[in-house]
Amino acid sequence: MDRGNGAMHTVTLSGVPEMLMWNLYQRAWEARRPRPVLHDPKATELVDTLDYPFEKHFGRPIGLVAQGHALRVRTFDTAVRDFLTTHPDGTIVHLAEGLETQFWRCDNGRARWLGVELPETAALRRSLLPDGDRRRTLACSALDLSWRDEVDSSRGVLITAQGLLMYLRPHQVRDLIAGCAEAFPGGSLVFDTVPRWFSARSLTGAVRTSRGFPSPPMPWGLNRSELPRVRTAHPAITSVRQLLPPSGRGLYHGTVAPLLTHIGVRNALVLVTAVAQFAHQ
Ligand SMILES: C[S@@+](CC[C@H](N)C(=O)[O-])C[C@H]1O[C@@H](n2cnc3c(N)ncnc32)[C@H](O)[C@@H]1O
Repeated sequence: MDRGNGAMHTVTLSGVPEMLMWNLYQRAWEARRPRPVLHDPKATELVDTLDYPFEKHFGRPIGLVAQGHALRVRTFDTAVRDFLTTHPDGTIVHLAEGLETQFWRCDNGRARWLGVELPETAALRRSLLPDGDRRRTLACSALDLSWRDEVDSSRGVLITAQGLLMYLRPHQVRDLIAGCAEAFPGGSLVFDTVPRWFSARSLTGAVRTSRGFPSPPMPWGLNRSELPRVRTAHPAITSVRQLLPPSGRGLYHGTVAPLLTHIGVRNALVLVTAVAQFAHQ
């Protein structure tokens, strides 16, 4: 899917921000499959628009991995759709939105969407996906909690942090979660986390794509069994529970992975998605 010639947008990201290109590539790859587990035409459109050596940097996507990523994305989508069912005019805050295209997959025509991104990524996103009436991107680190002042929480808030917390330091994760719990009574935060062994491996530089592209360090890791500990970040956190990915296509994602998840084995190996619920005042 390299499309250097005639492309309109050149990408010059590096480090953690560049990892959004890997995510986008996986989603677009899966969306182009027959019987995809994720319909994401906006992602395929973006990949075609970008002047970025996807295949040279990341290698050709591995079907199982791309589908696994798409199923993780579906887990977030389900949480957003569930929220919109009960809060159709609510606000979805997407921390570290990257080039996520969830708005185009899940929007109900009424909700408001706020993306919070580092300035360099926000600039790229805005150039490709300009702000709309109900959707905008704020150039602000998620760690600078002033973004909370930009959120209209009057009709409910769901915060998502997809592919962010693992790149932060443990005390930063704690402060961010506590800051969300404090500012958004009755709200919730959907996030994902890598297991501790994977975090430790990433710190040695050993986590690489098939083309040897190194993943940035992931200092925050948490095993599934430790999820309840997230509650200690703030007294307003009433519960933390895992969100299970849907079943997918084929022998592994259709049968083996759901079985391994059911008996608790898979959680030790891969990323876990979870939701933290905040008390009403
Ligand atoms: C792995 S990408 C995930 C992007 C997107 N959520 C997705 O799933 O496709 C990591 C993202 O985190 C963003 N990021 C890193 N540190 C951040 C911070 N302190 N505040 C906001 N965004 C941050 C990067 O710019 C990048 O878009």
